[in-house]
Amino acid sequence: MTDLMEAVTSLAKRRGFAFPSSEIYGGLRSSWDYGPLGVELRNNIRRAWWRSMVQLRDDVVGLEAAILMSPRVWEASGHVAGFSDPLVECLNCHQRFRQDQLPGPACPNCGQKEFTEPRQFNLMFKTHMGPVEEDAAAVYLRPETAQAMFVDFRTIQQASRMKVPFGIAQIGKAFRNEITPSNFVFRTREFELMEVEYFVEPGADEQWFEYWKEERLRWFLSLGVRPEKLRLRAHASDELAHYAKAAADIEYEFPFGWSELEGIANRTDFDLRRHQEASGEDLTYFDQEGDRRYLPFVVEPALGVDRAFLTFLLDAYRVGEAKSAKGEMEKRTVLALHRDLAPIKVAVLPLSRNEALVPEARRVHDVVKARWMSAYDDAGAIGRRYRRQDEVGTPFCVTVDFETLTDGQVTVRERDAMTQDRISIDRLAAYLQERLAA
Ligand code: GAP
Repeated sequence: MTDLMEAVTSLAKRRGFAFPSSEIYGGLRSSWDYGPLGVELRNNIRRAWWRSMVQLRDDVVGLEAAILMSPRVWEASGHVAGFSDPLVECLNCHQRFRQDQLPGPACPNCGQKEFTEPRQFNLMFKTHMGPVEEDAAAVYLRPETAQAMFVDFRTIQQASRMKVPFGIAQIGKAFRNEITPSNFVFRTREFELMEVEYFVEPGADEQWFEYWKEERLRWFLSLGVRPEKLRLRAHASDELAHYAKAAADIEYEFPFGWSELEGIANRTDFDLRRHQEASGEDLTYFDQEGDRRYLPFVVEPALGVDRAFLTFLLDAYRVGEAKSAKGEMEKRTVLALHRDLAPIKVAVLPLSRNEALVPEARRVHDVVKARWMSAYDDAGAIGRRYRRQDEVGTPFCVTVDFETLTDGQVTVRERDAMTQDRISIDRLAAYLQERLAA
């Protein structure tokens, strides 16, 4: 199964989805750069999430907050005191590990069994604001986007005139000084979060917790993730984050085992209460119908863009066979990505670089690229070009051939069924629209 991880990591690099950062200097462990196709896939993941969590809902509004916040935020939220993992060091080789992630009693690096006593290692990145490097100027890179939704709660509620229950959504970078970053982009020190803080009346939190678990699971299924690879797992009380009354993970069966894909937490009124106490500002909500004030409870679905990216790639990766132009069976690698996620929606392929075909194919490409992210490829044998598009998950390939010059039609080949339809260029945009529309 680790072969799948290797195959996907290698495809990701070869085709420009993602590769190690600063590679010419030997890389920076745990930092990854997203190349041309990676950017498109990430944009599509964000768009699909925003569409489902904000655009199609009447009860969620957006926020894009600063990464650097007042350090008082992280004191009040409990992150300065409690956002840490147990760190142990091997007494023989001095490698450091997260104690709760050691696979057994021996050091995974050298096999010796003696470690230091665990000490709590705070995961927040600390830096300094302004030209003085002293503790008074210390700030943190945010380890979650959620806190801005709490400290901006009142301002956003008043500006948007939302009534509880309602949510605030945010997509943005987060940073954690993870002890053991691992598994490609699964666990990194810089990553991107997509979070909703959903504010509800106290007492309604458990019901909303159930709702969000199902809703989030449904989202992955709607984007084609195989149901047998997904499951919900409730946190045991000793795993709960310092702010949570209950939590569940949507887990995916990664090649390295079942692991967290998304977390859903019932954060109660923990954060609003702490910020209200620490800031001295009134963060209660006035319920006009009930004529009373209260601090809302919060249910939070939180997903990493990078982890979703890895999941969609792994889940879509298929190797099969197809007949070549010469009638021989060849290996065919396909990314069966949902059409909303596919980085390139349509590729335009002239049968050859013939001087009559190329301008016609360019005209067809102009029609297509005005509406969708597309590719134009005239390099090499047509079969090879199909394979190249299959490998990156392009749902439609449009071939312009010599008959196109007389009948004004092109061949549209669909990635999964491999059906081929002959369509007039006039109808091409409508044909594709029908099949690509979200
Ligand atoms: N505000 C709640 C929160 O941040 P979390 O369970 O720590 O909860 C939410 O993180 C999600 O963020 C995870 O389910 C995962 O998708 C992603 N994530 C967390 N740590 C990550 C890391 N080091 N690298 C990549 N993604 C990460």
